Amino acid sequence: MEEEKIVMALDLGSQSIKGLIGGLDENGNIEIKGKGEISCNVGNCGISSGLIKNLELTTNNIEKVISSAEAHFGKKIEEIWVGFSGRHVDGLNEHGSVVVSGRDHEISQDDIERVTVQAKTKVEPLPETRKVIKEIPRWFKIDGEDKIKKPIGMSGIKLGVKMHLLLANTQQIKNIEKCVNKVGVYLNDIIPNPLASALAVKDKDASELGCIVIDMGAGTTDIAVYVEDALFYTDVLDIGGNIVTKDIATVLRTPRNKAEEIKREYGTAFLDDYVDGEEMFEVPSVGGRKAREITREELCAIIRPRIEEIANIIYSKLKNTTINFQRDLGAGIILTGGMANLHGFDKLLEQIFDLPVAKGIPKGVDGLDVKKPEYSSSVGVLKYGLEHYDEYYKRGLFEDVPTFIRTVKDFFNNLFENK
Ligand SMILES: Nc1ncnc2c1ncn2[C@@H]1O[C@H](COP(=O)(O)OP(=O)(O)OP(=O)(O)O)[C@@H](O)[C@H]1O
Ligand SMILES: [Mg+2]
Repeated sequence: MEEEKIVMALDLGSQSIKGLIGGLDENGNIEIKGKGEISCNVGNCGISSGLIKNLELTTNNIEKVISSAEAHFGKKIEEIWVGFSGRHVDGLNEHGSVVVSGRDHEISQDDIERVTVQAKTKVEPLPETRKVIKEIPRWFKIDGEDKIKKPIGMSGIKLGVKMHLLLANTQQIKNIEKCVNKVGVYLNDIIPNPLASALAVKDKDASELGCIVIDMGAGTTDIAVYVEDALFYTDVLDIGGNIVTKDIATVLRTPRNKAEEIKREYGTAFLDDYVDGEEMFEVPSVGGRKAREITREELCAIIRPRIEEIANIIYSKLKNTTINFQRDLGAGIILTGGMANLHGFDKLLEQIFDLPVAKGIPKGVDGLDVKKPEYSSSVGVLKYGLEHYDEYYKRGLFEDVPTFIRTVKDFFNNLFENK
């Protein structure tokens, strides 16, 4: 019997590091078999705005998350796939073309690889600080025929590709590698979170019609746009829910953790029939002063301008591309990440973009519960790992390595346990 493919995905978030272990069930759905999470106060995860700011803290937290997911799963894992974000992540479109090599001009995997490399070299030489992390073919062109998704086996003289390249900062990637290596598991792949979140929440219909996926977490906002069933645009803003919490704390002069609670419990970006704007709630003060009461409408007046500001940044960025909102984005916006839980955020986006907005919850997952917007990136990384699983092993890069690393890790673990 074929060995079950198991993937562990880790999402290096600014508020929480989330780890999921999963495989595919008989229906092709992802079954979540292990789950670990560490939630931190601002800056305490070692990660801020998607960037690793404290290697030791991040390493310790990664280790804790892996251990608790393993405890759930009941087995040790040896390799992980990591989702990451940060302002240094962005995307661009390139194209390439090659002459089909085979004798009968039948397109093979080798031609696909050559044309991919050809498109990738168009952005080279890159500065030492930049690196192509993922090359996503948008579609292929065979001779005059455009928009072909699966060219292998087809006949043609000239093969072209339109590609979306995702780039990131080399040092940030090295920091991820350092943390994972210290934990003693093998880093199988890294997946930029705009891509991961989109993979988790959009379905085929949405990408065919065209959609914007926005994942707003605590410290970053990841953006991915699909046009004509292909990834067209990716970007990351280094701003997210933390700034809203900070605004609440500053204006209401209340501690950050209380502001966070208030945002989650009473926060709204848009007053509608589901919210009683007159509803009063208590705001704890600092410095021994007496608590006060304010209304949800007053809270909305603090939250809304910041959300509008972020939405307007995204709007302007996308308006500066060739995307035509009404023509290319039939499925509108899919809003995900923890901040998608904020009441009224979807309605405000609807107004600003004049597009329909849906809340993005991970699709096609069973087992342990991850059907919440904050799990989109981790589920997407898991999905990516499972979809590309065979490729990692075909490349022959990882044979024996995980076992070796695990053995070394076990050796050190035993050493400490025996002390
Ligand atoms: N019910 C809620 N109402 C309002 N905001 C919420 C709610 N639940 C979570 N959030 C906000 O979502 C954010 C955390 O989301 P998430 O877990 O997706 O972030 P992260 O992945 O750790 O960070 P990032 O992706 O930015 O690096 C926080 O700002 C939190 O306050
Ligand atoms: Mg996130």
